[in-house]
Amino acid sequence: MQHYINTTDWSQAELQSMLDLANQFKQGETSQSLNGKSVALLFFNPSMRTRASFELGVAQMGGTAIVLEPGKNAWPIEFDLGTTMDGDTEEHIIEVAQVLSRYCDMIAVRAFPKFENWRDDRQDKVIKAFKKYATVPIINMETITHPCQELAHMMTIQKRIGRPQKKKYLLTWTYHPKPLNTAVANSSLLISTKFGMDVTLLCPNENYLLDKRYMDLAQHQAEESGGSFKVTHDINEGYDGAEIVYAKSWGAIPFFGNWEKEKPMRDQYKHFIVDQEKMNLTNNGLFSHCLPLRRNVKATDEVMDSDYCFAIDEAENRLHVQKAMMQTLVQKT
Ligand code: CP
Repeated sequence: MQHYINTTDWSQAELQSMLDLANQFKQGETSQSLNGKSVALLFFNPSMRTRASFELGVAQMGGTAIVLEPGKNAWPIEFDLGTTMDGDTEEHIIEVAQVLSRYCDMIAVRAFPKFENWRDDRQDKVIKAFKKYATVPIINMETITHPCQELAHMMTIQKRIGRPQKKKYLLTWTYHPKPLNTAVANSSLLISTKFGMDVTLLCPNENYLLDKRYMDLAQHQAEESGGSFKVTHDINEGYDGAEIVYAKSWGAIPFFGNWEKEKPMRDQYKHFIVDQEKMNLTNNGLFSHCLPLRRNVKATDEVMDSDYCFAIDEAENRLHVQKAMMQTLVQKT
């Protein structure tokens, strides 16, 4: 059974087929491929775009979406095996995944890291447990990667610049007052290198490098796809000649669970904000962000309101790519 947990499980050609289908949906083609089917959407964390676009997408294809928020409107779930459940959790993933599989044709999960211990978080235990105990396809709505955002990002890039191969792509860290998930940053590297772009990761210092797993995957995929991958801590070098600038803030992995120590370091890097001065260094570069975005913290009003910002198009495309991905999964099952 095929799941949509990471784009690394899918070839570039398979992902391109989903992007082509998403473009057909965007142009008005309709599909009832989820007629009579249901999709469970489990949110362990807040969402606006993901929830709205999944619920709407399922309905547009004739299906039923069931939104569950474990610990809020659904029982809190236990994930540890062999534990005596005398704490706050009310039922075990073993039962949850099996029961939902009896009701639903797909299960989609949003489960961010706990931000306490990266060694634990990087195991992505929640979605892996759903994959293990469910008997239907599992969809990643953001854990330590965000593969739905990846598809929407690439769909929008292709619409704006055509073939992405060998185009200069910059992923830049930006400031945020809180340490945020690395998922979109990991995913940015995964999708840009998968499609053969010349990718630069710009971050303040080596503490902000992403997990070795994703750095290595980016390098490996770049070699496979004919693109390239490099790191810089120099803002001018990062922006120089870039054709796509993608911004994201994330917490420094060595400081996971020790955020008081990271904050004074992070606070020195407020100047990583995306502004017009930096965009002037690019090659008529386009800008995007996955949203939500704190204006004048991560990027200025001028950048967000510019013609070269495609964040809203990217957010719209979440709807189209997720419909294409769900239809693909249903047809494979
Ligand atoms: N980009 C994104 O996933 O948005 P939400 O967190 O609002 O779902």
